[in-house]
Amino acid sequence: TSAQAQGASRFAFTPIPAQTDGTVHVPEGYDWKVLIRWGDPLFSDAEGYDITDGGPVEKSDRVFGENTDGMEAFSYRGHQLIAVNHEYPNRKINLPAAQEGKPASADDVRKLQNIQGVTVMEIAEGPDGWTVVKDSPFNRRIHHNTPMKIAGPAAGHDLMKTEADPTGTRSLGTLNNCGAGKTPWGTYLTCEENFNGYFGSSDETASYDPKVADGFKRYGIKAQSWNGYELFDPRFDTAKNPNEPHRAGWVVEIDPTDPESTPVKRTGLGRFKHENAAVELARDGRVVVYMGDDERGEYLYRYVSNGIYTPGGETEGLLDDGTLYVARFNDDSTGQWVPLTPETTGMEPAEILIFSRMAASKAGGTTMDRPEWVATSPVAAEAYCCLTNNKNRGVKPNAGGDDTSVNGPNPRQSNKYGQIVRWRPADDDHAADGFDWDLYVMAGNPTVHSDAYAGSDNVNAGNLFNSPDGMMIDSTGLVWIQTDGNDDNEGDFAGHGNNQMLVGDPVTGEIARFMTGPTGCEVTGLTWSADRRTMFVGIQHPGKNWPDGGTPRSAIIAIKRNDNEVLG
Ligand code: FEO
Ligand code: CA
Ligand code: CA
Ligand code: CA
Repeated sequence: TSAQAQGASRFAFTPIPAQTDGTVHVPEGYDWKVLIRWGDPLFSDAEGYDITDGGPVEKSDRVFGENTDGMEAFSYRGHQLIAVNHEYPNRKINLPAAQEGKPASADDVRKLQNIQGVTVMEIAEGPDGWTVVKDSPFNRRIHHNTPMKIAGPAAGHDLMKTEADPTGTRSLGTLNNCGAGKTPWGTYLTCEENFNGYFGSSDETASYDPKVADGFKRYGIKAQSWNGYELFDPRFDTAKNPNEPHRAGWVVEIDPTDPESTPVKRTGLGRFKHENAAVELARDGRVVVYMGDDERGEYLYRYVSNGIYTPGGETEGLLDDGTLYVARFNDDSTGQWVPLTPETTGMEPAEILIFSRMAASKAGGTTMDRPEWVATSPVAAEAYCCLTNNKNRGVKPNAGGDDTSVNGPNPRQSNKYGQIVRWRPADDDHAADGFDWDLYVMAGNPTVHSDAYAGSDNVNAGNLFNSPDGMMIDSTGLVWIQTDGNDDNEGDFAGHGNNQMLVGDPVTGEIARFMTGPTGCEVTGLTWSADRRTMFVGIQHPGKNWPDGGTPRSAIIAIKRNDNEVLG
């Protein structure tokens, strides 16, 4: 291929041009096929579930959910499982009759609650490709009413208690499941992102304890919800249940191999708009989790356990007992992880976790351009974070009043294209408190701009993209980048085309376009089959009739090489 002919490229494919049409494109020599779409039955009792008029509430918790997002594959006793998030509803599709997309009944609310959350499903490859194993004992839907445990230092705190749960240790459901992660002990981490939008108030004049009110302000909890749950489900009405929002915004651990297991909210990992959770082991075996808070001018976090992971050993407590840190990036390409402790924040331990944003502000973290996915490399001690864009950079402070002037890793005013920051921990140890950082790529458009908005040197007319978001590093160290940005293909975004997936060489910086999604979609979620011969990619909120000409349906696709070679 032409890329290989140049000699230096590690990419096994010819990069594809930008696209603006309504389908998926992959390079020559590769093929794609839908694995599962929103509304497809996971169990035969949901056979015939008909989404054409939005779908019935009955069995809406027995089908593949809406807006597929982060996912991870697991191998267990010869079975291949995928755990995958369903981030938010597409109300015009899911409730087509609803005025302004607001639920008109308790059934409408229940349906929205059922089609979000997480799916665990078994998959198998046959002569016609990959399919979901209907009625597999591993198949499971976790949604907005699934019982959860709350664990870690904030469990049982007064701010976590509600009338329905006076212990502050049991909650229902996981909300706005965005990115994901996987632990070395084989569990799935689902990350609660924009949980704030699920809460509303039946009383706009309701007054709250000052701590609660400060939290609502910093986390964006308002009287008006997005989905109208509070109209029919008082749990989401903050006038009646002011502490319920404190029970969302966490990372939730799920055992995909045990459909009877209770998911656990791990409060040790902090509460914010969690994008994903990239798990590494320190040199001594402590567990390290990198996490972004996807909001303009918010922070990048790290958790380090006190205990050591040993294969086959006890894992309970490894995500509960540890320290949360916020990233501070210096302009000289060094940085530190600053621990969030009573000494650095003036806050008490449980409140540092419940109000991590305030703790990070007090400890002097670096405000970031919307930290989306973090990915760590299996072949080098390094990590990457997509900073997707930030129209407020240098324009106005974040919701906590923190300064958002341009800074080292966020160097562009009103950042419209995004960038990827990379750091290498001191001593190649992810538990070290110091690191060196650089910008792996600054997205841009050199066909339109000649200043910083042209982008970095590894951006050219052949690989234009904006708003990097999803990211995974494969077994060979290549960095797969998924986008969720402007796809109108005009002006500043001319030549960017539809949202897409590219792959980057971490050493040369070379970036090549591998896949384009249908118009209107974002590309999010990536994992591989156990034999690494298939990659599974998520297509979220496609705009027009994809994939089969009818109602647009978010879906996971399977991508293979025609020669069935390994692809990552
Ligand atoms: Fe759900 Fe920040 O993406
Ligand atoms: Ca995302
Ligand atoms: Ca995004
Ligand atoms: Ca999204």
